[in-house]
Amino acid sequence: MAVAINCAAKAGEWIKSRLGGYHDLNTKQSPQDLVTDVDKGAEAMIRKLILTHFPDHAILGEEGVAPGAAASAAALKQASESEYLWIVDPVDGTTNFVHGFPFFCVSIALAYKGEVIIGVIYDPMRDEMFVAEKGKGAYIHGQPSKVSSDAALSGSIVAVGFNPDREFALPVNMRGLNALSGEVRSLRAAGSAALHLAYVAAGRLSGYYEVGLNAWDVAAGALIVKESGGIVTDTTGNPYHIGVRHLIASNGKIHEELLGVVRAADATGL
Ligand code: IPD
Ligand code: CA
Ligand code: CA
Repeated sequence: MAVAINCAAKAGEWIKSRLGGYHDLNTKQSPQDLVTDVDKGAEAMIRKLILTHFPDHAILGEEGVAPGAAASAAALKQASESEYLWIVDPVDGTTNFVHGFPFFCVSIALAYKGEVIIGVIYDPMRDEMFVAEKGKGAYIHGQPSKVSSDAALSGSIVAVGFNPDREFALPVNMRGLNALSGEVRSLRAAGSAALHLAYVAAGRLSGYYEVGLNAWDVAAGALIVKESGGIVTDTTGNPYHIGVRHLIASNGKIHEELLGVVRAADATGL
């Protein structure tokens, strides 16, 4: 936990210092899939720190994996064979970072035998550190994190996401958000899967739905939501595991309603 927090804090501070000052803007799998020298530098910094403390541990980091769903599934499968696996998204919300929209974070999880046992998400712009350890609750700068008490979709704010996969994921996410928009109090799409999850955990959002995510977008946030009293499943209601790409997270109370709306809209992606 100390190493995860240290990595997130150090990388986060550095990322913040580079806001508006990145050098190389490149695209990966599509013109919407951005990467900068800051993503790569932050990941290198985190890898180095982790390996200094735990030279035998495996690391699955977004910038170490070829783009695309197939490559990330293959990398996850290979990495899952390790006893201790760190799952790292050095900058979640790169598009926001590039445009100066101050909503991005560092997301770091540690899985033991395939199960996430530590999750840390750091938002350097607000200096907010969301942390959870399996079975020990979740905290935001030492204060307990707790999901909202909204009991119905009609009184809830729910987040959705638009990931760069415009072929498979975009039409499915659009069906989902179209259906949800008529049922919720309001939708949000702020562009960082991990921070959306941290906000569900903190009770600032009551739910989050997105199809087409990767392990590093979700691993830390899923544990933080669960340890804050919420529920995380795939879009059909099966329990979360590190291979889940199509996700629904909530305060628990609106979970069935969320699943029902997504199912009825044929927006599970499964
Ligand atoms: C993306 C963000 C975005 C979500 C995408 C992710 P990145 O991560 O979390 O909100 O909609 O699915 O890929 O590329 O900024 O690390
Ligand atoms: Ca991400
Ligand atoms: Ca990223």
